[in-house]
Parts: sequence; structure tokens; C-alpha cells
Amino acid sequence: MTDALLRSDAASPSEDPTGTAGDAEGPSSNVAASSDDATWWRQAVVYQVYPRSFADADGDGIGDLAGIRSRVPYLQRLGVDAVWLSPFYPSALADGGYDVDDYRDVDPRLGTLADFDALVDALHGAGIRIIVDIVPNHTSNRHVWFIEALASPRGSAARDRYIFRDGSGVDGQEPPADWTSAFGGPSWEPVGDGQWYLHYFAIEQPDLNWDNREVRDDFLATLRFWADRGVDGFRIDVAHGLAKELGENLPDQATLDSLPRAGGHPLWDRDEVHEIYAEWRQVFDSYSPPRTAVAEAWVESSRRPRYASPQGLGQAFNFDLLEASFDASVFRRIVEENLALAAESGSSTTWVLSNHDVVRHPTRYGLPDPVDPAEKRGAAWLLSGGADPVLDADLGLRRARAATLFVLGLPGSAYLYQGEELGLQEVVDIAPDERQDPAYFRNPGVDVGRDGCRVPIPWTSDGESFGFGDAAAHLPQPSWFGELSVAAEERDDASTLSMYRAALALRRELETDEELVWVDSPDAVAHFRRPNGWEVATNFGDTACPLPAGDVVLSSGPLEDGRLPGATTVWLRA
Ligand code: NOJ
Repeated sequence: MTDALLRSDAASPSEDPTGTAGDAEGPSSNVAASSDDATWWRQAVVYQVYPRSFADADGDGIGDLAGIRSRVPYLQRLGVDAVWLSPFYPSALADGGYDVDDYRDVDPRLGTLADFDALVDALHGAGIRIIVDIVPNHTSNRHVWFIEALASPRGSAARDRYIFRDGSGVDGQEPPADWTSAFGGPSWEPVGDGQWYLHYFAIEQPDLNWDNREVRDDFLATLRFWADRGVDGFRIDVAHGLAKELGENLPDQATLDSLPRAGGHPLWDRDEVHEIYAEWRQVFDSYSPPRTAVAEAWVESSRRPRYASPQGLGQAFNFDLLEASFDASVFRRIVEENLALAAESGSSTTWVLSNHDVVRHPTRYGLPDPVDPAEKRGAAWLLSGGADPVLDADLGLRRARAATLFVLGLPGSAYLYQGEELGLQEVVDIAPDERQDPAYFRNPGVDVGRDGCRVPIPWTSDGESFGFGDAAAHLPQPSWFGELSVAAEERDDASTLSMYRAALALRRELETDEELVWVDSPDAVAHFRRPNGWEVATNFGDTACPLPAGDVVLSSGPLEDGRLPGATTVWLRA
């Protein structure tokens, strides 16, 4: 192994909650954010910050923008190219901020627009770009438009911004259709005058009507608002859901479920959604460098290039690894397929192992594959309170580190989720009255929700909220967070944090041609070579195999005398 992992940083004399203690070398050389490079995003490492759970500067138990700004040195030292901020807008938090009251303001609990500007300056000053989340499928029910819609009669212009329909049955007492929402329960809500509105997500998230020109123009103004403030790119929530064609007679849920989702489904992935993004592209390209966007589009993989097209959003999330087993042939297939899809659109692919919606990957990989392939990974374990199936946390972490190093060696951009660099496991122990996710409340006994990956991250080994802030965190942190804190891991050259730092520093040398060739290897191993001679080999099996030739530059775990142990990745230079 290189000194990158073995280097002995001086232990910090006291725990520094900014996460830069003992950093004698200073920041790694992030791409200069001020540069005019229009392709910066193609192989960028983008770090997702869930603002309410990152760092709490004002001590109210909720993370805020000033907290994020105080951690810019940590992000710079980590070596990320960009930060993606999940929603920080005013919100009643019915869905963790994805219920937006006002798209052009900051939640007062998180700060002000001046704090946002200061954060942009600090990130750019550190050579880090900033991406913000745009939530265009729905507003919150506290948005001025929805309040106006409720106060206005059926057929009014105010109601036309949303999707209102007359109820069925006597006096419209029954819903217009039997549709179920993503979080469970019905997706139509009555407003008391015989009309109902559509909310595909929580009741507090009414769906917008994207046939309405005013809705379209307003989002163009929102994009300009943030781009003018220096935002470099956008993550587009539910990008495949905006265009809807409901018609006069609504189909029932069974019909909706049976219809193919490839262009003509009433709700999902309709072809004309790309007309919306073509307009957005004009806004993006009116800036220099052009603003970027990445689509959260849960679509058939063959449809992904439409979202990633240069005439549209430009990039789309590939979520395949969130659902994949830790298996060499599965990983190889996913890589090949996604590189081909990226070539089709001309975009680069994206790699995601964790985000704020899924069970963290060290936990997923420590659980057996679900018996029912349609079951969300980790869902049954969460539901049993962490009892069944039994979690092998050590194996999960070893596999997670191996998967991370595999992914970071690939061409394309890598999207990291806060806390994964610490190897955090999913938090299972959250009492019912502490839970926040609407999926938990709307699906009792079926879905525990996503709170377990949204617990505020630990910065120090002890103290109030492990350095997150001066008050108890808004979701309870488990006692084992201390040993996985930034401060604890900074002192350990073999820690997950040290591995991420080393990998991101070395990765800059890999960011050349976006190509790879597979190298012959045993079945349990996936081994590829990049054009500049870098090689990545992962043993997805349980038993050690011969270590490929070359100088080992970095490894995800200890090696055994010329052998590559199971659940381990090495980076090699031939
Ligand atoms: C996708 C977001 O990632 C998720 O957190 C949210 O609940 C839904 N979209 C609805 O906005």
C-alpha cells in the first residue's frame, strides 16, 4: 500500500469539529471553481449534504447553512469537486424539505439568503462547486399558490396550477380514482367542495400541473434566481413525473400499474417531459460555464439517455447499484450497460451507492439478499427493528469500502452521501415518536421510512450531539457514532475516512479518458484498466485470490501476502 493510506498524520491534540485537525498538508488540489471549464461535472465527485443533518451552528438541533459553511475546510480536505444541497427552502418538513413553501428563499431555521451567498463564496473559494435541489413535481400545501387554489373556486386559474378533479359518487364524496401515493394511503385529497387534488407523495405535497404556462415560467425564474446567485448546477427531483396526461376518465390503480412506463404512461416518463427540459437547457446555456443538471428519474434504463441528453438536463442518476447484490458479474453488467447508455447520450454516467432515500450501503451489504427481489434492500431488517435477518456489520463495511473504491475508479461522476466517508451504518433504533418520515406514518407496519440514513453525522467522539451542534440532534444519534466520528477517524490511517481522502486525492489522476477495458480475472473478481494505466480489481467473493500484477497504490482493506482477500478492492499501477 502507498503512504496515502499508511501515512501517519499527527493525531490532533484536541478534537476539532471542523474535521480538519491534524491536516498538516492542507487541502488537496480541488478543481478551481472559478474556472470556465464547461465539462467539470463529467467525472466530478459530488458530495450530497442533507442540510438539516450536517452541522448545526446555532444550537437548535437542526443543521443549518452556517454549519455547512463551517465545514467547508473538511469538504476541501476530503477532496470533493461539488456539493449537492438537498432542499434548504422554507418548509414544514412534511417530507424532509421536499415539501417546498417558497423556492426562492431559505428556511429561517437554516439561515438567510445572505447565509446562502456566504456559503457559495466559501465553497467557491475552496474550489468546490454547488448544486441545489429543485423540486418541480409538487409544491408544499403552504405554498402561496396552493393557499390561493384552496381559496378559489373550481375551474379558477389558481386551481389550474395544480391537478384538481371532481370527486366521484354523491356530491363528489368519493375520490376521483383509487390511486395510492408513494408513501402509502390514497393520492387524492378532498378540499371540501366536491373537488380533490392529486398528491403523488404526501398530502402536504400537491402535484403541479405542468401544462400550465405560469408554472413553467415560474420554474424558469427559479432556475435563474439560483444560477444568478452563483449556483453551478441543479438536481431535479422526480424528473420523470412532471408531464401527466390524465384525460377525462381516470384509469384505476391496477391499470396504471399494468401500463408500460416508456413514453405513454399517464403519470411517468412521458415523452413530452423533455419539452420542459429543453426550455430549462436554454436557461442553463445562457450562463458561462453552462449550469448543469442531473435528473432523479426512476425510469427504465434504456430511457435514461433522454434525460441525460445535452439538449435536456445533461446527466441522469444511475441508481442500479442501489438495488444490486455485491456480486462481480452484477457489477460488471451494470458498468457495461451504463457506460453504453452514457455513450448513447454523450453524457457521462453517474455512480451512487447511498443517498437520503435508501438504507446506507454498509448495512445493505451486511444483510443477505432479499428473498423477494422486488423488496427494497434493508426494508425487512428495518421493520424487524434490526433483529431479522441478522446484520453482519463488519462484512457490510468491508464490502462497502470495496464497492466504494471500485466505483471511484470508474469513469463518470460519483455521488457520495454525507457520512458514507465515515462508514456509517443505518440507524435502526429510532423510537416511533422520534420518527419524521411520512413513509413511516402513512404505511404503519409496512415501511419504517428513511430516517435511519438521515441522522445527523458525528464530528467528535463525544460531547453533545457528537459535535453536530450544542443541542441534542433532531434525530437521535446512537452511542456507536462516537467511534465513527470524523475526529476518531482522522486519527486512524486505516479508517474509512482516510481511505476516502486517499482515493479522492488519487482519483484526480484517473480523470482522463472516460474508458475502461476489462482484464481477465477469476469469476469472483471484477478487474478493469483505465487508458492511463490505472487498474482497479475487486474481489467480490469470500476467499482470497492471487493479487494482480502491478504496484498497489491503495486498497480498501489489508492484503494477505500477495493475495487479494474477499470483499477487497485494490488500485494498481501497472
Ligand atoms: C425524491 C426525493 O429524493 C425524496 O426524498 C422525496 O421524498 C421525493 N422525491 C418526493 O419529493
